[in-house]
Amino acid sequence: MIAKKSENIIPDPVLAKLSKYISENLGLYFPKKRWDDLRDKFQLASIEFGFSNAESCINWLLSAPLTQEQIETLSSYLTIGETNFYRDQNIYNELERHVLPELINSRCKIGKYIRIWSAGCSSGEEPYSIAILLHKMITDLKDWNISILATDINPRALKKAKEGIYNKWSFRGTPKWVKDGYFSRTRENSYKIKPYIKKMVTFSYHNLANDPYPSLLNNTSAIDIIFCRNVIMYFRPQLVIKIIKRFYRSLLDGGWLIVSGSEGSSVHMSRFVMVNLPDAIFFRKDLSKSGVVEEFLEKTPVSTHQTLFDYDPEAFPVVPLPVPESPPQPREVIIKSRREQPKTEEVQQKACEEAMVLYEQGNYPEVENILIDCLLHDKKNHKAMTLLAKACSNQGKFSKAVEWCEKEIAINKFNPGCHYRLALIFQEQGKMEEAISSLNRSIYLDPNYVLAHYTLGNLILRKGNIKKAEKYFDNSLSILNTYKEEDIIPESDGVSAGRLIEIIKTKI
Ligand SMILES: C[S@@+](CC[C@H](N)C(=O)[O-])C[C@H]1O[C@@H](n2cnc3c(N)ncnc32)[C@H](O)[C@@H]1O
Repeated sequence: MIAKKSENIIPDPVLAKLSKYISENLGLYFPKKRWDDLRDKFQLASIEFGFSNAESCINWLLSAPLTQEQIETLSSYLTIGETNFYRDQNIYNELERHVLPELINSRCKIGKYIRIWSAGCSSGEEPYSIAILLHKMITDLKDWNISILATDINPRALKKAKEGIYNKWSFRGTPKWVKDGYFSRTRENSYKIKPYIKKMVTFSYHNLANDPYPSLLNNTSAIDIIFCRNVIMYFRPQLVIKIIKRFYRSLLDGGWLIVSGSEGSSVHMSRFVMVNLPDAIFFRKDLSKSGVVEEFLEKTPVSTHQTLFDYDPEAFPVVPLPVPESPPQPREVIIKSRREQPKTEEVQQKACEEAMVLYEQGNYPEVENILIDCLLHDKKNHKAMTLLAKACSNQGKFSKAVEWCEKEIAINKFNPGCHYRLALIFQEQGKMEEAISSLNRSIYLDPNYVLAHYTLGNLILRKGNIKKAEKYFDNSLSILNTYKEEDIIPESDGVSAGRLIEIIKTKI
């Protein structure tokens, strides 16, 4: 059945409320000049919600927090999913010439793993292009632990991505060898991605506006390269700042952020080092250059009604970086002076707080310095161990992270959270059996430890045992029913019980 647009007109004040609501919940920004677009798209969505009158539908939506299902329906109508394979070939050429050879060489020495995140992946053309490039460049791929996480807010796009079947339109401007080498023709004249490329990519639902990252829970930490192209241009400026800060924390030191041309022109990017390659500009996390920029960003005024869509140099001034009054002390001096302080409980507490702030800023090496120093004076400081394990895993130092978890378990063996954290790190290392044992231990210690049930469900689902996975998801839902919707789940990086219920429902 073809959906008919409802005839009724939405008055401007109601549209204003809708635009604000969508901006807060989905991140999508519809300034007044795009209200006609919003009106047209929303009228179609309201028919799917079962309303013949769009204004009544808006009042209904605004009367309670959005459910996952409502977010999904709205995002299907309001987002723009335009994409294709090898979109902007120069990006892939520069990755192939500059970024990946350096990364692959360095990982050949320290451990063969690469972690990439395509945030706002739409129907999968971008993450599959990345997988194809890696397949082309790495000859001994089976010896590597490659993780390509692809996320989006639009479940319909994700469904198409998981199917991996495309028509000719997805190959506009795509080099011929991509279609010829990595797809097979279907009877319906479509193109199906080859299974060995398909299995390199993991698709999942993630809302950049509201879901947690970086987080071990959803695999968004210790990333080498984040692709977020043609996504943040649709967001309001405050959200862009928040997202860039979080991407910064999700990346390893030396990691890359790849956005599209207009998105990179924002001053918000100044947290990163801009790398001018011959045919593209990429952004790189470099902790040795981040201190002053951090301070600068906090102070930069931001207009509330501006997106990168309509970039206005006056509202987004390119302010020169402030020069500190006295030159910053070298790191060794700061560490030495910290070491020389008497280690009262108060000083220890302050150091832990300082480490927490640095952790929030993504300065994981400095967190390590401070906490190792704390542990020299208080060998049983298990909070320091917890944060150290997280700081190490966020830097991709998984063996070190395991060591800290095991040290914490040695002094805190009946704590289910310690075993759960260890399981997440094993999972990052690709050690699935060890992860399952640790999760079972966590459940043994606390049968109601909901994240252990949930993570076990995910691991077992990945192994293809759907029935058994559903059992764990059902257990999780029963436990979650004992929480209030707004309760934050311990160890979840801020996920509420209500949100976790919605996430689980997308799986069963
Ligand atoms: C134009 S497509 C970009 C696809 C791909 N990155 C590319 O450049 O070809 C934008 C994608 O961002 C997604 N998106 C929009 N808002 C989002 C949000 N809040 N969280 C995650 N993804 C979002 C949309 O659903 C859409 O699939």
